Amino acid sequence: MIIAPSILAADFTRLGLEVETICKAGADWIHIDVMDGNFVQPISFGQNLIKNIRSLTPTIFDVHLMIAEPERQIDSFAEAGADIITIHQEATKHPHRLLQRIRSLGKQAGIAINPGTAVATIEPLLEVADLVLIMTVNPGWGGQSFIPSSLTKISQIRQLLDGQGLSAYLEVDGGIDKKNIKAAYEHGARVFVAGTSIFGAPSYPDAIAELKMACR
Ligand code: DX5
Ligand code: ZN
Repeated sequence: MIIAPSILAADFTRLGLEVETICKAGADWIHIDVMDGNFVQPISFGQNLIKNIRSLTPTIFDVHLMIAEPERQIDSFAEAGADIITIHQEATKHPHRLLQRIRSLGKQAGIAINPGTAVATIEPLLEVADLVLIMTVNPGWGGQSFIPSSLTKISQIRQLLDGQGLSAYLEVDGGIDKKNIKAAYEHGARVFVAGTSIFGAPSYPDAIAELKMACR
């Protein structure tokens, strides 16, 4: 299993230090939430920030693009230092082509769906995806509560991936904490994004270890 702390919940006044500290605390990946004020209401940060923190660590940068028309931006996110680039199914008319494009840039390609979007809408995309992200809250804000009905969608994707012999990562994002992570794990998720439950905890290494232990 992979724990991917979301730096959206980090202290931006000392972001570099937060990134270094969370890597030492046992983060497997760094989850980077990009919001454009259009696909989702808030605006977070973009390519320049990624370029800046890239020099701090070789840890995988898992970039979650909550942006409209991601086709206009993926080349520059690849160049900025993303390792995984995840686009939303809802954000583009040509998700299949975009996933191919991300792969052609030498990056891993992820497809995300909102809580209101059915799993069937991404079934034809699985063949070109390295990662599937099931949103377990509505995107835009950290600190929301996990939506229990997403568990069914996690199982559906797990069945599709296993049934087709596909090894894409199955990631969940939103409201993940030590109380609900086991259910997500048991339904088939293997990559867990967590913002508040890690960066809001007194000890980052303990918070990451507790999330992992909760799945045993
Ligand atoms: C929501 C983001 C999440 C969020 C997770 O739009 O995609 O990655 O930062 O934060 P928590 O764990 O606080 O829900
Ligand atoms: Zn995210």
